[in-house]
Amino acid sequence: MAPALPSVSRDCTLCPRLVTFRNDLRIAEPDWHNAPVPSFGSPEAKLLIVGLAPGMHGANRTGRPFTGDWAGDLLYATLLKYGLATGEYKEDPNDGLTLVDCRITNAVRCLPPENKPVGQEINSCGKFLAQEIAAMPKLKAIVALGTVAHGAILVANGEKRGARKFAHGAQHGLTNGLLLADSYHCSRYNTNTGRLTEPMFHAVFEGLLARLV
Ligand code: URA
Repeated sequence: MAPALPSVSRDCTLCPRLVTFRNDLRIAEPDWHNAPVPSFGSPEAKLLIVGLAPGMHGANRTGRPFTGDWAGDLLYATLLKYGLATGEYKEDPNDGLTLVDCRITNAVRCLPPENKPVGQEINSCGKFLAQEIAAMPKLKAIVALGTVAHGAILVANGEKRGARKFAHGAQHGLTNGLLLADSYHCSRYNTNTGRLTEPMFHAVFEGLLARLV
């Protein structure tokens, strides 16, 4: 039997800065999720997508990774295009969208100020990512959205954070047999500046799916 999925308390205290931020937001926005965001999709999936951290008005508000913010529009449209999701994405965790052989999580599960988790937060939350990966018995490949996710995945797999260089479109065979595919993060900043275009993002999934069949 695969090891258990991580159990992350709504009131996790591993990262003092994020706890303070979360507590302030619980007062300012009592109707928001304002807690560690659980992964989305079946742990029986072949593919795991790892983002950076919840966005303030996206996952931190709605409670589902990439749901309700800019980055989710491109991510979910791409998953629907390649058959990795079915249904309709409506920026709402109750939209009925289902992931197909795919799961989404974040390197850091709580909202960081200015979308920038610090080293201690990435390290502390890394234990949940490692548990997540260990608990996916059919996992074959992981997509890293950005350099923080790339480094966190390497560490979670027992490698050094800098053991493999991040490059958009690169694929790395990890020591444990998993395939790691790198993509620039599908953030508003990256898409607005042209660092990441829709065809570039699609190409990451096409390249990966070609290896997974
Ligand atoms: N929403 C997430 O859940 N993760 C990200 O990395 C960005 C937005």
